Amino acid sequence: MLSYLHAFHAGNFADIQKHSVLVLALRMMQAKPSAIACFDTHAGSAGYDLAGDRAMKTGEANAGVQKVWRCREQLQSDDWQAIIDELAAGNGRCGDLERYPGSPRWFSRYLREQDSLTAFELHPAEGETLSQWASGRSGTRVCREDGLQGLLRHLPPRQPRLLVLIDPSYEVKTEYEDVAETLKRAWQKCRHGVFLIWYPILAGRPHERLKGAISEGTVRKVLCQEIMLNQPPERGMVGSGMLVVNPPWGFDARLASMMEAASDSECLGITATTDWLVQE
Ligand SMILES: C[S@@+](CC[C@H](N)C(=O)[O-])C[C@H]1O[C@@H](n2cnc3c(N)ncnc32)[C@H](O)[C@@H]1O
Repeated sequence: MLSYLHAFHAGNFADIQKHSVLVLALRMMQAKPSAIACFDTHAGSAGYDLAGDRAMKTGEANAGVQKVWRCREQLQSDDWQAIIDELAAGNGRCGDLERYPGSPRWFSRYLREQDSLTAFELHPAEGETLSQWASGRSGTRVCREDGLQGLLRHLPPRQPRLLVLIDPSYEVKTEYEDVAETLKRAWQKCRHGVFLIWYPILAGRPHERLKGAISEGTVRKVLCQEIMLNQPPERGMVGSGMLVVNPPWGFDARLASMMEAASDSECLGITATTDWLVQE
């Protein structure tokens, strides 16, 4: 039984990091014209209402994307501008944000004619909303099945390049191990693929199981970025992490610079570290 609903958390500080990584990877990969097969293994419903009851109940977006939006004048780089422009496109430029795009929408913004997006979602209601959003969008298909198993079935893709976002809710205890095992098997099928893996940082540090399994395995060239809240809450996430397998050349410096620009207390109030978990 799936109980997680991303509408309660959309636009929080972890989404900012995750979607910054995704957009930067897409933009850097698209410097070359060859086609990219994109996969979103845990897609959610593509768009979220920040003024709705679910978002208001947790207020997570207020400490995340709304702060980024208010301090957008200080985020003066092309890499941040790509994020700001997309937020503005869904909202207008004045006042607080009312809508926040989910990962399929961020992918879709950058999808070219030669690229494709396969989005997996298991939750019945989220899957239905996602299917409605995707219907009629060329190059986009929705699979309402397990995203980790589905990904493996679709690899290797027919396009020459691969970009995968793995963004589970980690509701299931074995998910850290399952993600590590899926990465190992996916990488064996497509060694040049770019894999983006999100994980929460909780007080008990269960994400160390994921990082440990990957660092002891065969996958090479894994960048790790962690952002830690300077004023963590008593319960819940104290930070957020992203693993990036096979990042484009120069990706690490650009991502580090993005998070540094957003780190002060007026903005996200975070401390970011960007380092290699596994070297080449
Ligand atoms: C963290 S949310 C995804 C957020 C989305 N990637 C974004 O960035 O906007 C995780 C999603 O995975 C879905 N989910 C949970 N288990 C799944 C599974 N085994 N396969 C596919 N989707 C799953 C949940 O219903 C939820 O919508």
